[in-house]
Amino acid sequence: MTSVLLANIGELTTWGPERPQLADAALVIEGDRVVWSGPADSAPAADTAYDVGGRAVIPGFVDSHSHLVFAGERAEEFAARMSGQPYAAGGIRTTVAATRAASDETLTANVARLVAEMRRQGTTTVEIKSGYGLTVADEARSLAVAAAFTDETTFLGAHVVPEGSGVDEYVALVTGPMLAAAAPHARWIDVFCESGAFDVDQARAVLAAGHAVGLAGRLHANQLGHGPGVRLACELGLAAVDHCTYLSDADVAALADAGTVATLLPGVDFSTRQPWPDARRLLDAGAQVALASDCNPGSSYTSSMPFCIALAVRELRMTPREALHAATEVGARALRRDDIGHLRVGARADLAILEAPSAVHLAYRPGVPLVREVFVGGSPG
Ligand code: NIG
Ligand code: FE
Repeated sequence: MTSVLLANIGELTTWGPERPQLADAALVIEGDRVVWSGPADSAPAADTAYDVGGRAVIPGFVDSHSHLVFAGERAEEFAARMSGQPYAAGGIRTTVAATRAASDETLTANVARLVAEMRRQGTTTVEIKSGYGLTVADEARSLAVAAAFTDETTFLGAHVVPEGSGVDEYVALVTGPMLAAAAPHARWIDVFCESGAFDVDQARAVLAAGHAVGLAGRLHANQLGHGPGVRLACELGLAAVDHCTYLSDADVAALADAGTVATLLPGVDFSTRQPWPDARRLLDAGAQVALASDCNPGSSYTSSMPFCIALAVRELRMTPREALHAATEVGARALRRDDIGHLRVGARADLAILEAPSAVHLAYRPGVPLVREVFVGGSPG
């Protein structure tokens, strides 16, 4: 196996227990793994050396929530919201119609474009959901398209009830034939548990059906108002519950107790003019907080984790280090992965080299493309 030394790193973020971030550092990769990190002046020899030029090196971003399988766009809806229209879950149906009408090639090309956009901005792992098909065939093909790009695929047949269906009939479809067609292509199952989408009993039924065929659960909840979704996620010990914009004290306590990751999606609150989620309240209570893009054409059409970090620091009052941790290691926990999101010995060598001396610049220089180079599994990617 060949080894590569990344020498002359200005600031290395490993999330190691003693020195999570180290100045004047070096890192050695062997094959696709990190095998050594430490002070630059005690780096071992390697087959090739690569001078990072004093720049910062961070773990690649783990974007644990996206909806990349869709066709079309909804710029007019965004413009109307910026002039005062509220966000409504019903806009999802516009994208459903465009997605159903699109060819497999069009859907695949759109995902490829967005995954490449993410990669250029430092994302090395992305979770991708279905949810704009909402028929047995369209959900199965959405997941087959997603699975060509990531192992972290999520069946979201329970996104909204499609036009022309009754809710009970649709939940029976999602938990029956649609789940059977989707499961071979999915690792996770998700439900939009919110008024206007699925209630807590329907969410419970969908998650239970998924669990029975080996799909682990995650939830969209508490995005548009208070509700029982967060507590359901904690009761079931799900890996993550996402949005968490409206939380009661009981929700915060449940998250801290259960260890279910609260994934905040500040791109959504930005693009829908919703209030910001209270990250400080969650962190101060001891809850685990991740950040993700929720990239989708309706509520958050950004593929940029650096943009989410900048919002989290400026508006959610996370420290730059908390926001970086949320976008990397805690994002990995939201996917129950311990091989990514950090650069400790044994990690997959997924990392980004920044055009900056420290990772604080991700928030300090918002909107600037600071990712100079990305390594995926030890190779330039
Ligand atoms: O995570 N909340 C539900 N689903 C997406 C929005 C989808 C859309 O508006 O197209 C979300 O925000
Ligand atoms: Fe979402």
